[in-house]
Amino acid sequence: MKKLSLLLSALFFFGIGVFAQPKLSENNIQEIVRVMSPEEKACLVVGFNTGCPGYDPGLPGTGGLTYPMPKYGIPSIVMMDGPTGVRLEPDWHDGKGAVHFSTSFPTGLLTAASWDRETAAAVGRGIGEEALDLGADVLLGPGMNLLRNPLNGRNFEYFSEDPVLSGLIAAAYINGLQSVGVGTSAKHFAANSQETNRLDGDSRLSTRALRELYTRGFELCLRESDPWTVMASYNLLNGEYTQESYGLLTQILRQDFGYPGLVVTDWTGKRNTPKQLHAGSDLFMGGAKNQTEHILASLADGTLSMADLDRAVTKVLELIVKTPAFRGHKASLSPDLEAHAALARQSAAEGMVLLRNQGGVLPLAPCRAAVFGVHSYDLIPGGNGAAYVSAPYVVQVHDALKEAGFTLDADLERIYPAYAAFADADVALNHKVNVHVGKAQTPELEITRTLIEQTVKSSDVAVITLGRTSGEARDRILGREFLLQEDEVNLLENVCEVFHAAGKKVVVILNICGPIETASWNYLPDAILCAWLPGEEGGHAIADVLTGRVNPSGRLPMSFPLDYFDIAGAEDFPYNFVSNKANESVVHPERRGLPLKNLAYTDYTEDIFVGYRHFLTEGKEVAYPFGFGLSYTQFTYSNAVVRVKAGQVQASVTVTNSGPVAGKEAVGLYVSAPLGSFDKKPARELKDFAKTRLLAPGESQTLEFRFPVLDLASFNAALSRWEVAKGLYTVCFGAEAGREQMTRPLKLSRGLVKEVQRACEPQAGD
Ligand code: BGC
Repeated sequence: MKKLSLLLSALFFFGIGVFAQPKLSENNIQEIVRVMSPEEKACLVVGFNTGCPGYDPGLPGTGGLTYPMPKYGIPSIVMMDGPTGVRLEPDWHDGKGAVHFSTSFPTGLLTAASWDRETAAAVGRGIGEEALDLGADVLLGPGMNLLRNPLNGRNFEYFSEDPVLSGLIAAAYINGLQSVGVGTSAKHFAANSQETNRLDGDSRLSTRALRELYTRGFELCLRESDPWTVMASYNLLNGEYTQESYGLLTQILRQDFGYPGLVVTDWTGKRNTPKQLHAGSDLFMGGAKNQTEHILASLADGTLSMADLDRAVTKVLELIVKTPAFRGHKASLSPDLEAHAALARQSAAEGMVLLRNQGGVLPLAPCRAAVFGVHSYDLIPGGNGAAYVSAPYVVQVHDALKEAGFTLDADLERIYPAYAAFADADVALNHKVNVHVGKAQTPELEITRTLIEQTVKSSDVAVITLGRTSGEARDRILGREFLLQEDEVNLLENVCEVFHAAGKKVVVILNICGPIETASWNYLPDAILCAWLPGEEGGHAIADVLTGRVNPSGRLPMSFPLDYFDIAGAEDFPYNFVSNKANESVVHPERRGLPLKNLAYTDYTEDIFVGYRHFLTEGKEVAYPFGFGLSYTQFTYSNAVVRVKAGQVQASVTVTNSGPVAGKEAVGLYVSAPLGSFDKKPARELKDFAKTRLLAPGESQTLEFRFPVLDLASFNAALSRWEVAKGLYTVCFGAEAGREQMTRPLKLSRGLVKEVQRACEPQAGD
C-alpha cells in the first residue's frame, strides 16, 4: 500500500502520463469519471486529510477539504462550519500581525423565532458573503434537526419542534446563502436528536414519525431550495447507521424527495465505507486513509460495485464545478464585518420573543436602571462546538442600555464585569466542563439584599439577565440547566421584592440556548424578553426591543412546558446524564452493546406527538405555547378565505394593526384534519406561515398561503404512502397553536382526494 500511495501522489500532483488528461469542466464530468483510475476515484471521495501527500490544512478552523487532482484540473474545495457564522479558530493570528474574526449572527432558534423567510434569507446571505471572503466553498449548515426534547445540547443551532417551520426557514437560509455562489449542507440527516453518545446512539422510531417529523423538514426544504450538500448524521436509525442506510439516503432522500445533490458524511471515519457508498453517501469527511484502502479492497473482492463509486465521484465533481475554488475565486480574508454587524443587530431583534409585559411596562423610556445578572455584562452570543463563532466583539446589555440613554447603577457596573472575568478564568483554569470550543456556563453572582436595597434608591427600574449556554457533544442536564439554580432564584426573588416594594418594575432578559423552566417564577417580574443566543450585536438588539425602537414580533418556535415531565417522551432522553467527555462515545467499551436506555439507544415513544402536537392533542397546559409572543400593538384578523384549486390549498387572511404603534404580525396556518384510516392525528398541525411587513397603526395587509393538498396527508407506514383523508378539515389562522384568531372549514370530497392521491402515485413508465 505504501508503494501505491507514492505512485498515486506522483500521478496526482505531477500529472505524469503519456497522454494529456482532460481537464474538468461542467460539460465533461462523465468523461473524467471514465478516464479516472479506481485509485483516483477512491481518493476523490475521501476527505483530504493529514495523512495525504501535499496536505494543506487551509485556514485554522476549516472543517475539511477534498482531495485535489491538478492533473484533471480538480481543485481542493474547503468546507467550513456553520451555521451561525463562519467558524474560524478562536483568536486566529495570520502571522502578519492580523487577527481574523467573523460575524457572530443570531443562532438558528432565534432565526426561526422570527417566523420570517426574509430574515432567514438575509442571515444566510450575510453568512454566505463571509464564507466567500474567507475562502469557503461549502458552509456546513443549516442545522435543521427537530427539537424533539428541550435539553438537546445543539437545539440552539436548529430551528423548531415543527418540521414545516424548520424546513421552510432552512430553505430561505439556503437560498440566501447560496445566492452568493457558496454551497450549504443541510444537516444532520436524520433523527439526530441528542448529543449524548452521539456517534453511536440508535434513534428508534416509527416510520410514521420519521416521515411526518424527522425527515419532513428536509423534504420541505428540498422542495423550496437546492442545498449543494446534505450531511448524513452520526447516529443510527432503527439499528442502522444513517450513513449506511440505503433506505434513508437512496430511497427516501434521492428517490422520494428527488434530491439531486451530494451526501456528505458527518465527520467520522468509523463506518463501513463500502456500505456507506452503496447506501448513497458520496463524500467521506473528514477522511481517513484506511477508507480509501477499504474502497479499493471492496472493489477488488466484489463487495462494492464500480457503479456505486462512479455515482459518488460524479456527485463530488458536480459539486466541485459549482464552487468558488473551481471558478478560481481568491478569498480576500476580510469579510465586511461592519455591514454584517448591522444585519446581525436587525435580524436579532426580529426573532426576540416578548413573553410577559404586565401593565405595559415595556417599552421603557431612558431612565435610571439597576442592571443585574452576570450575563448582562457577559452576554452569551452563541453556543459551543462546531457552531462556535470567533466574533470581533460582543455588545453587552449594560453598554447598549447606556448608549440608549439609560443611567446605570455604578456599583453593579463595577462588580459584575470583574466577577465575569474571574468566573471565565476560573472555569477555564479548573476545566469544570468540557465545552469543546466555546464558553462554559458562568454561575450567577450572589448579590446581597443590602446591595439591592441600596441600588433601588437610585434606580427607576431593574433589569436582570439570566443565561444558559450549551453545545455539541453534550446534552443539557435537567436539574442544573433546565431549572433555575438557587443563586438565580435568590437574585430574582430579592430584586422583585425590593423593587416592587418601592413601586418599581423588574424586567428579565433570557439569554438562553433553549427552553428553560419558567412556570415557578414567571409571575414575579413585570416583563420577560426571550433574547435567545442573539449573536455579537445581542446587547444592541435587546436594547432596541426594550426601548421600543423595535416592536417585538418574534414567536416561539417551540413550546415551553410547565414542567419537563409534561413533554411526551420525557423519560426517553438522557435528561440527567452527566459526562465530561466531549465528542466521543460515552458508553464505556465494556458496556457497549448492552441495551443502555437513552445511551446506546433511545426509543421515541412519543411517536409523532412532539411539542405542541402532544400538548394540544392531550389538552395539556403549557407555560408558553408554540407560536406565542407579545407585541406593543394589537392585530385583528378578517376576510379569512380557504379554497382548493389545481391541487393546491390556497388561503388568505387580512391582518390589521388595530393598536397604537407600528408592528409586524406572524401568522401560522394550522390544520385540524379528519382521522381517515388513522387512529390518531395531532389536534393541530402547522402547514404554512407568513409575516406582515411593518404595519402602521390602522394599516392592513392580506397574507397569502399556498401548499399542495397532499401536505394535508399523514404517512401510512403499512402501505408506505401519504394518505389524505376525505371529510371536513378546520383551517385556523393565528400565530399561537391552539389559540388561533380565525377558523374556516374546508371540505375534501372523495373524488378530490382520489385525484390528489392518484397524481402522486407512480405512473406506468416512471
Ligand atoms: C458536527 C458537524 C460539523 C462537523 C465539521 C461534526 O462533529 O457534528 O455539525 O459540521 O463536525 O466540523
